[in-house]
Amino acid sequence: NAASKGTYEFYMLKEIDEQPAVMRRISNDYFSQDGDVKVDNDIVKAMADSDRIYILAAGTSYHAGLVGKNLIEKYSEIPVEVGLASEFGYHFPTLSKKPFFIFLSQSGETADSRVVLKQVNERHLPSLTMTNVEGSTLSREATYTMLLKAGPEIAVASTKAYTAQIAVQAVLAKAVGEAKNLKVAEDFDLKNQLALAAEGMQELVDGKEKIDALAKKYLPCARNAFYIGRGVDYAVALEGALKLKEVSYIQTEGFAAAELKHGTIALIEQDTPVIALINDPATSDLTRGNIREVQSRGANVMVFAMKDFAHEGDDVILPKIDYYLSPLLTVVPTQLLAYYASKNKGLDVDKPRNLAKSVTVE
Ligand code: G6P
Repeated sequence: NAASKGTYEFYMLKEIDEQPAVMRRISNDYFSQDGDVKVDNDIVKAMADSDRIYILAAGTSYHAGLVGKNLIEKYSEIPVEVGLASEFGYHFPTLSKKPFFIFLSQSGETADSRVVLKQVNERHLPSLTMTNVEGSTLSREATYTMLLKAGPEIAVASTKAYTAQIAVQAVLAKAVGEAKNLKVAEDFDLKNQLALAAEGMQELVDGKEKIDALAKKYLPCARNAFYIGRGVDYAVALEGALKLKEVSYIQTEGFAAAELKHGTIALIEQDTPVIALINDPATSDLTRGNIREVQSRGANVMVFAMKDFAHEGDDVILPKIDYYLSPLLTVVPTQLLAYYASKNKGLDVDKPRNLAKSVTVE
C-alpha cells in the first residue's frame, strides 16, 4: 500500500523518489483529456476577482508559498503576499480591498494556520486550502479546497508535498491567468512542463549516488553550512537549508546570494560548505561572483546549476525547465543531500529529534 516503506530503509528517500509519479498524477488529475487545465470554476472566479492574494503557511509549506508567489504573479498577474501564519495571525497587515487567502498545508491541521483562517472566516473573506489530506481541518474550514495528490507523506521532513504544492499552485496560476485572458497564461505549456519536471526529477533521483558522494566529501565534519541563490533559487535556498538542518543537525542558513557579503560572510571559514543554486538567467553571472567571494574565504562550494548556465566542474546539472518551475528540480538534490547527510551520521532520518509531522499547538 501507499503508506508502506517497501524496500526502503527510510520513508524520506521513498518519498523523494515518488516525486516524478506525483507530478504525473497532478498532470492527469488537473488537466482534461484535450489538455485544458481543470480547476473548479468557483475557485478560479473568486481568485480572478481578487486584487491581492495572501498565502499563509508554516515551515516547508511556507517555502512552497514563496515559490508560488512568483508563479501566481507571473501567470495570473495578481500581486501576492506570503506570510508565516504564526506571525500573520496576531499582526494582520492592512488588507487590500478584495483579498483572497490561500492556506498551504500538507497535513491541513497546523494550528498556526488555523488561527489565521478563523479570522478570515470572521471577516467573511474567501479562502482556499491546498492540502494533502482530504477532509482535514483547514480544508473543512476554508471556502475551497484543492488537493495535492502527493499520497501519504510519513517522514517528518516534507519533500513530495513541497513539490506538489508548487505544481498545484502553478495549475491554479495558469487557470486564473487564462480566465483573465492573459496571453502569458495561455502560452504557459504547463502540461508539457510537468512532464519535463517528472523526467528531470527521475534523472536527478537516478543520480542519487553522486549526491551521496558530495555529502560524504563535504558534510561529515561540517558544523554549519550555507545555501545561496537569487530569485526563485533564493526560495529553494531557504528550503534546502531547512531540510539539511532539520534532518542532519548541521546548522544551515539559506541566503539571497548577494546578501551574504553584507554580514554573514564573516562566518565563512576554511571548508565551510556553501551550496550555490543557479537557474536565474538574469543573475547567474552575479551568483558566480558570489561563489568566488566565498571560495576566496576558504568555502567548499557545491554548485547545482541549470544546464544552460552550467560551468565545467559544477556538481549537479539541472535539466532544463521553465524558470518559475525550476524549484521542482532544484530542490531534489537538496533533499537528497539532507537525506544522505543524516543517514551517513547514523541518525533516524524519518524522525528528527524535537520535531513532529503535524503541529497542532501554537
Ligand atoms: C511541521 C512539520 C514541517 C511542516 C510544517 C507545516 O513543523 O515538521 O515539515 O512543513 O509543520 O506543516 P503543514 O502540514 O501545515 O504543511
